[in-house]
Amino acid sequence: MFTSLALAALVATTSTVSATKLYVSSYNGNITTFDFTKSANASYNLARLDTTTGCGTSSSWLEIDLKHRNLFCLDENFASTVNASIASFKITDEKSAGSLKKVTNAIVPAAPVHSALYDGANGTQLLAVAHYTHALTTYTVDPQTAKFALSQNFNFTMSKPGPKPQQPAPHPHQVVIDPTKKYLIVPDLGADLVRIYYVDPTTLQISERPSVTVPPGSGPRHGVFHLTPRAANQRGETHFYLLTEISAMILPFNVTYLPNNGGLTFTPIGKSVWAYGSGANLDPVVASGNAPAEIRLAYLKTGAPQLIVSNRNATFFRDVKNPDPKNSTAIVSDSLATFTLPKLAPGAATANANETQLVTPQALTPAGGLFPRSFALHPNGDMVAVGVQTSERVAIFHRCVKTGLISKEPVAAFEGLGQVSSLVWGV
Ligand SMILES: *[C@@H]1O[C@H](CO)[C@@H](O)[C@H](O)[C@H]1NC(C)=O
Ligand SMILES: *[C@@H]1O[C@H](CO)[C@@H](O)[C@H](O)[C@H]1NC(C)=O
Ligand SMILES: *[C@@H]1O[C@H](CO)[C@@H](O)[C@H](O)[C@H]1NC(C)=O
Ligand SMILES: *[C@@H]1O[C@H](CO)[C@@H](O)[C@H](O)[C@H]1NC(C)=O
Ligand SMILES: *[C@@H]1O[C@H](CO)[C@@H](O)[C@H](O)[C@H]1NC(C)=O
Ligand SMILES: *[C@@H]1O[C@H](CO)[C@@H](O)[C@H](O)[C@H]1NC(C)=O
Ligand SMILES: *[C@@H]1O[C@H](CO)[C@@H](O)[C@H](O)[C@H]1NC(C)=O
Ligand SMILES: *[C@@H]1O[C@H](CO)[C@@H](O)[C@H](O)[C@H]1NC(C)=O
Ligand SMILES: *[C@@H]1O[C@H](CO)[C@@H](O)[C@H](O)[C@H]1NC(C)=O
Repeated sequence: MFTSLALAALVATTSTVSATKLYVSSYNGNITTFDFTKSANASYNLARLDTTTGCGTSSSWLEIDLKHRNLFCLDENFASTVNASIASFKITDEKSAGSLKKVTNAIVPAAPVHSALYDGANGTQLLAVAHYTHALTTYTVDPQTAKFALSQNFNFTMSKPGPKPQQPAPHPHQVVIDPTKKYLIVPDLGADLVRIYYVDPTTLQISERPSVTVPPGSGPRHGVFHLTPRAANQRGETHFYLLTEISAMILPFNVTYLPNNGGLTFTPIGKSVWAYGSGANLDPVVASGNAPAEIRLAYLKTGAPQLIVSNRNATFFRDVKNPDPKNSTAIVSDSLATFTLPKLAPGAATANANETQLVTPQALTPAGGLFPRSFALHPNGDMVAVGVQTSERVAIFHRCVKTGLISKEPVAAFEGLGQVSSLVWGV
C-alpha cells in the first residue's frame, strides 16, 4: 500500500513538469481559475479548477498582486450608466489550489475598464482605475487584507466631440505606471490625449500634469514603456509605444522627464506602423475594421525587445484549425501581430530621425478566434494566453523565446467561458 502510493506520487510529480494558474474574467460575472500544466511528454493541458462570482455581472478587468496574493476585479456593470463596482479577492488554497475568496466590493463610478496597482512608500498601495465614461479614480489599498477605499475621483469633459463616432466624450482606457514609478499615464480614446499624473509616493495623492496630444481621431487605447539598455552612470532612453484603437496604429515616442516632477514630454520618434503589421497582402476592407486591443512588451532570449499586439475585427484568417480538438469545423480568426524593436548596446542612443524604423513588423498569426480583447505573456515568456471575447474561449499559444514567433495553433484551449474580457497568470 505504502509502496504503491509513493509510486503514484512519484509518477504525478515527474509527468507534470510545470504548472501555472491562470485567472480569466468573463462579461457574465464569472472568474475562472485554471491550472495550465506541461507534461513530461511535452503535452499541455488547461484544466478548470474553480469558478468564482462576486465581481458583479460584467467583469471587465483583472489586476493581480502576486506578492500579497490579492486579485482585484473591475465590473463594468452594463446594466447601469451611472455606477459599476470593484471587488477584491484573496488567493487561497481553500476550495482548490489558487481559488479565490471574496474580501469586499464597492460601488464606483460607471465603466471601469482598466487598472494599475502602484506600490507607495512603506508598504502602502494605490489602485488607479480608468473609467471609459469619463473618469479616473484611485483607491488606497491595504495589501495585507485586500480592503480598499476611494481616494480621488477626476471627472473629464470635452468642449466638443472628437472627429470619430467613438469620440463623443473622453474615454480613459488604461492606467500605466512609468518605469521611474513617479507617474500614471492614462491614454484617453475619446479625447485623443495621453493624460499624465504625478503620484506622491508618501501621501499617494495624484496630481495632473500637462497631457500629451495625439493626432485627432487616433483613439489611444493602451500603451507600453520600454527602457533602452543603460550603460554605467548613464540613463537609457525611455520610449513609449502607444496603441491607437481607432486609427489602429502603434505610435512610438521618446519620453523626457521634466524637472521638479513637472511631468513628461512625448516626442514622436520613428515611423508609426499599422497595428496588424506591414499589411502588403491584406484585404484593405478587412484591415479598415481593425480595432486593436492590447499591446505588450516582451523580450527574446538574446535580450532584444519585441512588441505583441492583439487585433480585433480584422479577420484575416479564414480557415484555421478549430482550437477545440473535438470540433473538426474550421474557424475564422482575428490576429496577433508581433514586431521587433532594435537591440541597442548599453548606452547607445536611438538614431534621432523621424524615418527610423524602430518598430519592424515581424509576423501575423491567428488569435484563436474573434475579438482577442486581452492577452497575457506567461512568466517564462514561452506562452501567450489569449482571451478571445466573442468566441468565448481562452487559447494558449507557444511563443518561441529565440525568435519571438507565436505558434499558429494553440497548445491548449478552453471553450464556453462566456465573453472573455481579461486574464492574468498566477503562480
Ligand atoms: C459561471 O460558471 C459556472 C461554472 O462553470 C457555470 O455553471 C455558469 O453557467 C457560469 N455563469 C454564466 C452566467 O455563464
Ligand atoms: C502526455 O501526458 C499526459 C499526462 O500524463 C497524458 O494525459 C497524455 O495522454 C500524454 N500524451 C501523449 C501524446 O502521450
Ligand atoms: C446604481 O445605479 C442604478 C441606476 O443605474 C441605481 O438604480 C442604483 O441605486 C445605483 N446603486 C448605487 C449603490 O448607487
Ligand atoms: C465626479 O463624479 C462623481 C459621480 O460619478 C461625483 O460623485 C464626484 O463628486 C465628482 N468629482 C469631482 C471632483 O467632480
Ligand atoms: C516611512 O518610513 C520611513 C522610515 O521608516 C519614515 O521616516 C516615514 O515617516 C514613513 N512614512 C510614512 C508616510 O509613514
Ligand atoms: C468590422 O470591420 C468591418 C470592415 O471589415 C466594418 O464594416 C465593421 O463596422 C466593423 N465592426 C465593428 C464592430 O467594428
Ligand atoms: C464547432 O465549431 C464551429 C465553428 O466555430 C461552431 O460553429 C460549432 O458550434 C462548434 N460545434 C460544437 C459542437 O461545439
Ligand atoms: C530621447 O530623450 C532623451 C532625454 O531627453 C534624449 O537624451 C535622447 O537623445 C532622445 N532620443 C531621441 C531618439 O530623440
Ligand atoms: C520630424 O517630423 C516633424 C513633423 O513632421 C518635424 O516637425 C520635425 O522637424 C522632424 N524632425 C526631424 C529630426 O526630422
